[in-house]
Amino acid sequence: MASIKKILKLKIFLCLLLVYSASSFLIYLRKSVFQKITLTETHSEVRKALHEVENETRLSNCFSDEEKLLGWRQTVHWESKLDQHEYRYLINPENGCKKSENLTLVILVKTTVGSVKRRTIIRETYGKGVVKYNVSAKIVFLTGFSGEYNSTLQAQLQSEADIHGDILQEDFIDSYYNLTIKLIMAAKWASTFCNNSYYVMSIDDDVIVDIVNLVNDLEANTFRSKFVLAEPAIDWEVHRDPGDKWYTPYQFYPEESWPPFPRGYAYIVSRDVAHDLYRASQKMAAPIPWDDVYCGMLLQTLGVEMRNIIPWFQTRHGHEKPIAPLKTQHHYVIWDSVQKPPRNTWRAIEHRYKNIHNL
Ligand SMILES: *[C@@H]1O[C@H](CO)[C@@H](O)[C@H](O)[C@H]1NC(C)=O
Ligand SMILES: *[C@@H]1O[C@H](CO)[C@@H](O)[C@H](O)[C@H]1NC(C)=O
Ligand SMILES: *[C@@H]1O[C@H](CO)[C@@H](O)[C@H](O)[C@H]1NC(C)=O
Ligand SMILES: *[C@@H]1O[C@H](CO)[C@@H](O)[C@H](O)[C@H]1NC(C)=O
Ligand SMILES: *[C@@H]1O[C@H](CO)[C@@H](O)[C@H](O)[C@H]1NC(C)=O
Ligand SMILES: *[C@@H]1O[C@H](CO)[C@@H](O)[C@H](O)[C@H]1NC(C)=O
Repeated sequence: MASIKKILKLKIFLCLLLVYSASSFLIYLRKSVFQKITLTETHSEVRKALHEVENETRLSNCFSDEEKLLGWRQTVHWESKLDQHEYRYLINPENGCKKSENLTLVILVKTTVGSVKRRTIIRETYGKGVVKYNVSAKIVFLTGFSGEYNSTLQAQLQSEADIHGDILQEDFIDSYYNLTIKLIMAAKWASTFCNNSYYVMSIDDDVIVDIVNLVNDLEANTFRSKFVLAEPAIDWEVHRDPGDKWYTPYQFYPEESWPPFPRGYAYIVSRDVAHDLYRASQKMAAPIPWDDVYCGMLLQTLGVEMRNIIPWFQTRHGHEKPIAPLKTQHHYVIWDSVQKPPRNTWRAIEHRYKNIHNL
């Protein structure tokens, strides 16, 4: 093992050297190409040469697939295995959904123990909207526990749960590579404790939801089963560079591109689909650590097709006047960004309600 490590280290060094010299060359070439661009007619040839050099500079070309996997395993401890999802509930808002007989939507927010600020923002924006506009929705925050158990942090989470009653916690380690576990956590909890909700939404904690329009449109929707509303990712390329956040070892998934999957920042499924996802996960292990891709694979085995949420929104709201910072191409879910801090986004959404619904 030690000798393998040494060889790997040497190879990384040589590779970095190669990358460095190649990228210097690339910069040089770029400069000269740009100077010549008006003079030369062989533009496409130059471009091709550029691409070749660019390809050479990729770290991924220096190593065999075995070496890449070995290197990755030094830092990431993940393996594909069947998971019956028998984690204990540390905190469970059991009756969270049962306060009303029927619920239109339960929103399950993927969050971590430490993300208190994000949860506060959500409660103060669209969470408040649920109450203010009498929307038939319930928000629940999904967490595991942080790697090193910290009793102070756990006590803080418990008191947050006592105050708001919206925290769900299971005893698995919360990490980026455990998000497939969180996907099944959502599906299992929704079908066990929230099966009076027609729809289930999975969502990141850094986005804001146009809750009134979304729930109104879902209430008007006639498809109550086999229904998935998402921004589909079609033919997305599998990342093979070990330096990449989404690096996927060839040994785990050999195809060049992923099957269609719902983009993970937000998607909605009908409650039967949530239940079927949970069941299907007990028979098919996640071959890769990416929760949204895994969801796409499970949907494929279930034979459930996605509806594209963007045109779905556009046919219902495309004609409405955009209100800064929202544009019509944004749909029910708006990302948090520097130009669009979450509270401003929510203010704009509420402005929309004044214009449209007279709320
Ligand atoms: C660069 O690499 C990609 C695959 O990573 C390949 O499809 C493409 O043909 C390569 N381009 C050249 C010019 O070698
Ligand atoms: C709740 O849903 C059930 C099953 O869909 C239905 O039979 C019942 O009428 C609903 N109740 C209300 C109050 O809408
Ligand atoms: C809230 O909505 C429910 C139906 O979803 C309705 O029965 C109830 O009267 C509404 N409450 C208020 C205060 O408007
Ligand atoms: C536990 O969490 C608290 C609150 O974030 C922090 O102040 C403290 O340093 C942590 N303790 C340990 C042992 O990590
Ligand atoms: C995922 O959670 C399980 C259960 O807590 C834990 O054994 C495993 O180490 C975690 N994996 C990662 C990559 O964090
Ligand atoms: C929810 O689950 C309970 C118990 O599993 C079952 O009795 C009930 O009919 C389910 N309700 C719906 C609306 O599916």
